[in-house]
Amino acid sequence: MKTLILFSTRDGQTREIASYISSELKELGVESDVVNLHRCEELAWANYDRVIIGASIRYGHFHASVEAFVKKYQLQLKERASAFFAVNLVARKPEKRSPQTNLYTRKFLLNSVWQPDHCAVFAGALRYPRYGWLDRFMIRLIMKMTGGETDTSKEVVYTDWPQVARFARETAQLSTK
Ligand SMILES: Cc1cc2nc3c(=O)[nH]c(=O)nc-3n(C[C@H](O)[C@H](O)[C@H](O)COP(=O)(O)O)c2cc1C
Repeated sequence: MKTLILFSTRDGQTREIASYISSELKELGVESDVVNLHRCEELAWANYDRVIIGASIRYGHFHASVEAFVKKYQLQLKERASAFFAVNLVARKPEKRSPQTNLYTRKFLLNSVWQPDHCAVFAGALRYPRYGWLDRFMIRLIMKMTGGETDTSKEVVYTDWPQVARFARETAQLSTK
């Protein structure tokens, strides 16, 4: 049996985190498949006893497909040990990096038909040079208001990789159903 790691990303950071989790699991002897949630028409659910979903935030929201996916596959999710991780920039502040203190994650869990067995919030990446002018302008404004990086020539990765490794270990320890 394997672990299915689904990711919803816009700029790639959530995919990187998903791949990192996969390599951490491999070191623990757990095989996994990393799959783009936006491109998974046919999933071989029978191959998986654990599932992890990771999704990033853009302008206050996870991609609508995440909620749609969770609704569509709620039975499959409930039948397996499962975990969720959220990726956003608010979480660059450690006090906003838990499912209870991270507003996006708290709201998601409150409204979700799926209640994962384990949940984490990871800080994402700020990559000004890769954004279009409007996004760059908006993100810089938000960073200015919240005391973050405002130099638009910079790319900053805030992800706490040891935290991600911990999450992988904890998820591997979830008892299967
Ligand atoms: C256009 C845009 C809007 C964003 N909006 C938010 C936001 O509302 N709150 C937040 O905490 N982070 C926000 N972020 C930060 C992203 O969540 C962060 O860059 C994350 O690493 C993106 O992950 P991804 O590359 O997997 O999409 C935004 C980033 C961009 C580019």
